[in-house]
Amino acid sequence: MPEGFVWGASTSSFQIEGATGADGRGSSIWDDFCARPGAVLGGDTGEPGADHYRRMDEDIALMRELGLGAYRFSISWPRVQPGGSGAANRAGVDFYDRLTDALLEAGVTPWPTLYHWDLPSELEEAGGWPARDTALRFAEYAALMGEALGDRIGHWTTLNEPWCSAFLGYAAGIHAPGRTDPAASLAAAHHLMLGHGLAARELRRVCGAQVGIVLNPGELVAHRPVPDDIDAARRVDGVRNRVFTGPLLRGAYPADVLEDLAPISDFSFVADGDLEAIAQPLDFIGVNYYSAERVAADREAAGGAAQDAGAEPDPALVGTAPAVNLPRGEGRTGMDWGIDPRGMYGVLTRMAAEAPGTDLYVTENGAAYPDEVGADGRVRDRDRVAYLRDHLLAVRAAERAGAPVKGYFAWSLLDNFEWAWGYSQRFGLVHVDFATQRRTVKDSGRWYAAAAAAGAVPG
Ligand code: NOJ
Repeated sequence: MPEGFVWGASTSSFQIEGATGADGRGSSIWDDFCARPGAVLGGDTGEPGADHYRRMDEDIALMRELGLGAYRFSISWPRVQPGGSGAANRAGVDFYDRLTDALLEAGVTPWPTLYHWDLPSELEEAGGWPARDTALRFAEYAALMGEALGDRIGHWTTLNEPWCSAFLGYAAGIHAPGRTDPAASLAAAHHLMLGHGLAARELRRVCGAQVGIVLNPGELVAHRPVPDDIDAARRVDGVRNRVFTGPLLRGAYPADVLEDLAPISDFSFVADGDLEAIAQPLDFIGVNYYSAERVAADREAAGGAAQDAGAEPDPALVGTAPAVNLPRGEGRTGMDWGIDPRGMYGVLTRMAAEAPGTDLYVTENGAAYPDEVGADGRVRDRDRVAYLRDHLLAVRAAERAGAPVKGYFAWSLLDNFEWAWGYSQRFGLVHVDFATQRRTVKDSGRWYAAAAAAGAVPG
């Protein structure tokens, strides 16, 4: 990898912190969603998480052991503003203040994300992301955090994967807040991006750091080279990629996307000045990549592939001409996601072409497997090592092809709460026994540490 390449690992607040009732933290939509019977596998909740709120020092020691250059974490909005607005909860801000200082002292660069899905419940009760006001509250929260930590932060991320927040949260209903309202999901996508733009302005006003956003671009091809599937792939590309990159990079929604979505929304939530606010210059774009997909017009068109456990109707197209997403590549991870490192190359080179001159970081990449600690205390996760190696080689290939990729963050530092899958899916470089909170560095963690130390991908 090139000189200065950043080797990091990622986590998020709700997934690792636990301590959901500590020090004045307010409730979030994920606390509420977990309390709904049947919403999360096994009835799992944000407790215990990886108990990181209480084990921050131990976890930073692990980062040192792995030789990480950077640590991407998220700030829990309801810890900092329990109801999502107004004065800061000092104890909440202090946690991130201490985390930042301790990381810097350990020689690990802090990379905070302001929003990784834990919206304060009070804001959801007032309408959530489909309501414009949430974007304004988000900008205030960004300013508050910029003032608190801005003197020590070089790279701020506003949102993590707004596609998930908008479409899994408000259309498919499989993520918090669990709503199934296609029109609301589009308003949510718009207000998330507006929140990003307004927050970017605030961060630049109060601290002048680099500001970026993290997207999860889809790498999509038509299932068969026939007009129906080709058009389905275009439509999914519209709602997965271009509905975000249009406003963010070009200040406009693509005409074909507006046309496709006309049956569910007239986009009248777009107010004067919004698109200009959204299209703030980006200092960097974070790309999260896990798997690639094929797209068929419907289950019938997908044929036998529709039987694949990973085959899903596209959630953002419900109420319009539908499409079915099918896993692609060799093999499946524990999530039933297809393994296709070529997709990593594809998303990075495409983003580089669409946002020329903007630094790119792989802000998440990794795989879930059913790891176990052996009698000798080792976790032999060879599949994850192969996954990481092949995807890092694809990152290197994209970089050599001219994509300005400046760093890579493995998902995740620790096993954690995998949203609707609860604790059933382990993504960590470090195994966590959730009953004892004992941490065990997996073979993949040692492999990654060697890569980071060498600045190169071992064979
Ligand atoms: C993306 C999300 O940002 C993260 O929270 C999640 O755990 C991983 N993907 C794996 O699903």
